Amino acid sequence: MAVYPEYVIKEVAEKNDIIEVISQTVTLKKAGSSYIGLCPFHNEKTPSFSVSPRRGIFKCFGCGEGGDVIGFVMKSDNLSFHEAIKKLALRANIQLPETKSYDADEAERKKEKRELLYAINKEAAAYFFKSIKTSDEAVNYFKKRELDGKVVKYFWLGYAPDSWNGLFDYLKEKGYTEGDIYDAGLIRRHESGRYYDYFRNRIMFTIFDANGNVIGFGGRVLDDSKPKYLNSPDSNIFSKGRNLYSLNVARHSKSRTVILCEGYMDTIALVKSGYENTVATLGTAIGEHQAKILEKYFDEVVICYDSDSAGRNATNRAISVLRQSGKLKISVLDLKAKKDPDEYIKTFGRARFEAMYKERKPDMEYLIEYFGEQYNLKKSEDIVSYISDMTDYLKLIKSTVELDVYANIISEKTGVQVSSIISQTGMRKTGATSSRTATNADVINVVNKGTAVNDNKQYLEKTRALLLSTLFYDRKLCEKYFSLIDASMFENSIHIIIYNYIKECLEKGEKVSNTSLIAKFDTKEDINAVSGVLALDIQSDDTDKAVRDYIKQIKEKGNAEKAYELLKENKITLEQFNTMIKNKG
Ligand code: GTP
Ligand code: MN
Repeated sequence: MAVYPEYVIKEVAEKNDIIEVISQTVTLKKAGSSYIGLCPFHNEKTPSFSVSPRRGIFKCFGCGEGGDVIGFVMKSDNLSFHEAIKKLALRANIQLPETKSYDADEAERKKEKRELLYAINKEAAAYFFKSIKTSDEAVNYFKKRELDGKVVKYFWLGYAPDSWNGLFDYLKEKGYTEGDIYDAGLIRRHESGRYYDYFRNRIMFTIFDANGNVIGFGGRVLDDSKPKYLNSPDSNIFSKGRNLYSLNVARHSKSRTVILCEGYMDTIALVKSGYENTVATLGTAIGEHQAKILEKYFDEVVICYDSDSAGRNATNRAISVLRQSGKLKISVLDLKAKKDPDEYIKTFGRARFEAMYKERKPDMEYLIEYFGEQYNLKKSEDIVSYISDMTDYLKLIKSTVELDVYANIISEKTGVQVSSIISQTGMRKTGATSSRTATNADVINVVNKGTAVNDNKQYLEKTRALLLSTLFYDRKLCEKYFSLIDASMFENSIHIIIYNYIKECLEKGEKVSNTSLIAKFDTKEDINAVSGVLALDIQSDDTDKAVRDYIKQIKEKGNAEKAYELLKENKITLEQFNTMIKNKG
């Protein structure tokens, strides 16, 4: 089935937001954490079609159809897997590797154009690299900034000579056309129709996309003139809001934690010191697309911005943006000294930076301190302003437990009651919301009451599915609890395949993917069934506890179930049965 390598298929699935894709054909309404609408695969008047954006899964509880974004396009457009991949890759601007001969259709032409623009930019990088030695000023600049030959090669640094047409002539000589060089963002067009080099007399930082294509440049002046930096214009292949400097390096580092800094030079200094897991934005504040990208490769972001007031404001903004994105753990590395990470590491050395890195604070803890320093918390009016500032951030907390933790800290700091701090955020009190968790416990309690075996079986199957589905989408819980689970806890073959797949991913240190899991099933029935498991999303404020409950229940009730079977088949006595039931798990 898969003509394309798996990484491509995963990328296609990840880069196509399931809500956006399905919304093109189905009117979706938000309902809790999911969206619902009228199922496009059967006739209905009341919606039973549900899509989970967080999980990237759709499922119709009427007709049973389910799957990921690729499955949806296959079903709704009646396409083969291969065709659906092509369609979605085009939609997300993903370059597909060559497979076999192809027709020069629209998609192929666009892809070819993108490849041409990568090639032109790559050639430009080579030109900038070669140009360093033509300028003493450039050579001295690299020396001054402690950028040796190794670093220059590793990051593809270069120099754009002080010339109006050096690069333009060079690229034309290589056979590229004016139009293509222009589209690559390397020349500007004068009203007179003349073209001239975009970057002149600047130190050049080559920017790659996540896959290592050269997509653009950042150019720095050698003195104090303005603008200090100039970036390639946004184009077919380059978007400042959708790329990150050095992501191509960081995504291959072993760490699932990424350091986010502001500048090219900061990133280079950190990578040089062994922090390959460092990226920087491209001269703009971090945005939601970049947050999504980070989410794809990492579990935690460490914001490491300049410690001046601009940097601190940017830190607060970054916390908001990253919090809204949802999945990432966020912490702040506050360097305190009035220096950026590059200067810090050059002044104080790697060991001291490492100590600061280890002492990084959770975002909310950082904010509590940061705003605490802005006010005099002995004055009542300052306390009011302090709580008001903090509320803007507390509102971004999704878990009531977490909110409770920080509301308590703030309460201790200010003397304001926890309940009024929480009510400021508009979230219900912890006591009230925790009843949502109780629904899971309720389900399990019914089982606990030891009703009919059949009910027990049904609940048990549901609990097994819930356990798998919760662990599938929560890597941290999975790492914490997976060792407590074994295949013998499952009976249904679909559950066992999901269990084995998660296990395999954990062992390989890979992220689980809907698409890869679904690819393990051939029949429509199985795909719908596995989607049914993946779509199970019982909202819980304490998923940690929920998972522990699931495991306990499955072990206990699974034992009970076995005992019943044995008793029914007269293989054990009632006495043995009773001891089996008592010896839990
Ligand atoms: P150095 O001064 O060389 O150490 O660079 P820096 O990275 O420390 O500079 P700074 O902290 O001033 O800026 C951080 C980042 O913001 C840079 O790496 C650029 O990406 C971006 N930036 C800074 N100045 C400009 C500018 O004038 N224009 C644009 N577009 N981006 C800028
Ligand atoms: Mn700097």
